[in-house]
Amino acid sequence: MEIKKIHVGSLLLQSNVLMAPLAGYTCLPFRMLAHQLGAGLCFTEMASVNALKYKDRATRQLLYRPELPNYINAAQLLGGSPYIMEYIAKSEFLKDYDIIDINMGCPVPNVFKSGEGCALMLDMPRAASIIRACKKSGKVVTVKCRTGIKEDAMFAAEFARMCEDAGADLITIHGRSRSMMYDGIPYYEEIRLAKAAVSIPVIANGGIHSIASANQVMEETGADGIMFGRYALENPFIISKLTGTRYEKSFFETLLDQFELALKFYTETYAINYVRKLAANGMKKRKGTKKYKEQLYQVGSQEELIEVLSLIFAEKEQN
Ligand SMILES: Cc1cc2nc3c(=O)[nH]c(=O)nc-3n(C[C@H](O)[C@H](O)[C@H](O)COP(=O)(O)O)c2cc1C
Repeated sequence: MEIKKIHVGSLLLQSNVLMAPLAGYTCLPFRMLAHQLGAGLCFTEMASVNALKYKDRATRQLLYRPELPNYINAAQLLGGSPYIMEYIAKSEFLKDYDIIDINMGCPVPNVFKSGEGCALMLDMPRAASIIRACKKSGKVVTVKCRTGIKEDAMFAAEFARMCEDAGADLITIHGRSRSMMYDGIPYYEEIRLAKAAVSIPVIANGGIHSIASANQVMEETGADGIMFGRYALENPFIISKLTGTRYEKSFFETLLDQFELALKFYTETYAINYVRKLAANGMKKRKGTKKYKEQLYQVGSQEELIEVLSLIFAEKEQN
């Protein structure tokens, strides 16, 4: 695919390769890494506006942000009320954020039942009000959605048109319907139809697991860029490889950096848990590492974690 900078509202992204918001993963250290690897954007994990309204500590932590030159801060908000979305978008919590991404794709039953996430795809007037309400903050506003609710009745193009009319500056489409959750081959054709229907940038997401599949998705959809999701947890270097960004650290060194950063901003328990999850993802395709999985999940201290990580990754990387 052609790697290029893209304009989103008043902003210019360093590349058209984006990193998805992933709850439990895209905390501050991971977003810094994605940026270093050449990602044009990396979103925070979804932050509930209702929880922010009550100043919930854990939710505020989701909005910790890197202070790097040329780093564009993008927060993803989850909510169903235009008033609360506007209130939070204009609030101190988002003061240093450049982009507000609205979650219109979360399929989880509790979220759906509360009229948030993917449920907004069923209520286009309310989804439009939310976009307009967030725009009142003066920030760039983007939307992340799916292809629809059910596999046999998808409507990504119609939804994309609504987003553009309401003022969205970019739309990311996960090529699966809500009913598919996270499995099955994405409907890239739906993304192609959406791209053809609007003039704002459209980013294709879902099931991209190699350079070849990124190229294929770009070709099939005509999208302006792609967004990596789960695969970038297994192999974050796919981002630097695709964008042609120089990054010379090994997976082991990267994990140690991530650990150090996580310890700086969060509690020790959080940092151990986070790096453990990253390591578990990184082990998926590394032969002979399965035997360490139990050990990895039993570590209780920083020293033990580093010891297990070196057993799993360091030796292999030196060979
Ligand atoms: C563990 C996990 C957490 C996720 N968290 C979010 C989230 O906070 N916000 C969001 O819009 N999508 C979230 N998603 C969806 C991803 O951003 C992405 O759309 C989806 O995984 C499809 O891309 P993939 O097939 O490349 O993984 C999450 C997915 C997973 C697996």
